[in-house]
Amino acid sequence: MAITIDLTIPLKREFEKANKQFEEAKAKGETEEAKKVAMVCCNILIQLAKSDPNKKLNYLEAARSYKNFADSGPKHESSTAPISNFEQTREEQKDLAGYAESLISKSTVTWKDIGGLDTVKVRIMETIVIAGLKKPLVIKPDKGILLFGPPGTGKTLLAAAAAGSLNATFFNVKISNVLSKYFGESTKLITALYETARKKQPSIVFIDEFDSITLSRDGESGDASRKVLSTLLSELDGFQDKKSDELLLTLAATNAPWDLDEAILSRFPLRIYIPLPDPTTCREIIKIQLKGLDITSLNLDRLADTCIKKNYSGRDIQFLCQEALRSMIRVHNPDLYKKSELPFEELKKQTLNVGPIVTEYFQSAFEKVKSPLTPKDIERFRKWNEEFGV
Ligand SMILES: Nc1ncnc2c1ncn2[C@@H]1O[C@H](COP(=O)(O)OP(=O)(O)OP(=O)(O)O)[C@@H](O)[C@H]1O
Ligand SMILES: [Mg+2]
Repeated sequence: MAITIDLTIPLKREFEKANKQFEEAKAKGETEEAKKVAMVCCNILIQLAKSDPNKKLNYLEAARSYKNFADSGPKHESSTAPISNFEQTREEQKDLAGYAESLISKSTVTWKDIGGLDTVKVRIMETIVIAGLKKPLVIKPDKGILLFGPPGTGKTLLAAAAAGSLNATFFNVKISNVLSKYFGESTKLITALYETARKKQPSIVFIDEFDSITLSRDGESGDASRKVLSTLLSELDGFQDKKSDELLLTLAATNAPWDLDEAILSRFPLRIYIPLPDPTTCREIIKIQLKGLDITSLNLDRLADTCIKKNYSGRDIQFLCQEALRSMIRVHNPDLYKKSELPFEELKKQTLNVGPIVTEYFQSAFEKVKSPLTPKDIERFRKWNEEFGV
């Protein structure tokens, strides 16, 4: 249950005090003093408008009347309070906060949906538990974990499971989108994103394609990504220090960890290699992908061996199983396409025939699914992990 602290109370008191001074100066005919204090009142009202969006317009209207007073007659130096700028900024903030909110996605993935990857699963679970428990001040949960590895190995899935298992707010961020959509404003977006994530804790911020932040180092776009990077790094440095029982975990994922520099790596002391699945993981992924169907006749060990030989990722295994499923459907539902003439409402009343999944279905599937990875690629990950992984 969230507790809301009313920040407007001290501001209102401050305003009352300033307003009294303003009225007194006016009564005494001290116009210059009154103008100065009018600007103080105006600024407090702007702060109040920021703190209480429901009464924003009332506060801004009042602020404007003080500003008009301060602007009347010869111009006073401090009378340039940016009410219109503030209004613009509010709009901009609303827009950015709106975009930050649009990055929130609902995750229904749970730890059970992930085969293998036990070390990283346990590490993330520990982080979550530590964040929740009462603990001495010096013990802080991990703030950021870097997940690196070949495509399709379950990095996104891990982040989704972390969020899904906790029912946490899940921010799914692609750096390239942030940079292109809010070019120039990207740093503000990162700030807005973390502000929203802090408000909606427990939160998991998943930053995908993390390496793309370092790709364009030259020119204007390089400048923008450097700024985004430094904002992001300072968010990683700063948050979670105040309230120790909240969770804001940043999971960053990359397929090109070698593009990340020292500054980034130092903020991610935990760099976890998400490799291609080992035989046990292959078997688990096949079982997950074929859940609910009869697979008793399959020799899972043999299938897993072939997956390993073919350098399959979890995603490749997913495609493999989908191919096998398609074969099963064709075998048990001949001329299925002919039903396409039926009205959809009629289709909804009928049931698809399913049968056991047999090894035969996998033969053509193995031919169709090809891993894009070469042994050289895999070796590069292995070496980087040896040097920089944890
Ligand atoms: N360990 C796993 N357990 C179960 N399914 C997996 C696993 N790894 C991959 N998959 C399957 O592969 C799909 C792709 O995985 P995911 O999107 O998490 O990969 P990724 O590592 O984020 O890839 P990329 O680097 O391309 O973004 C998942 O939706 C899932 O079906
Ligand atoms: Mg991914």
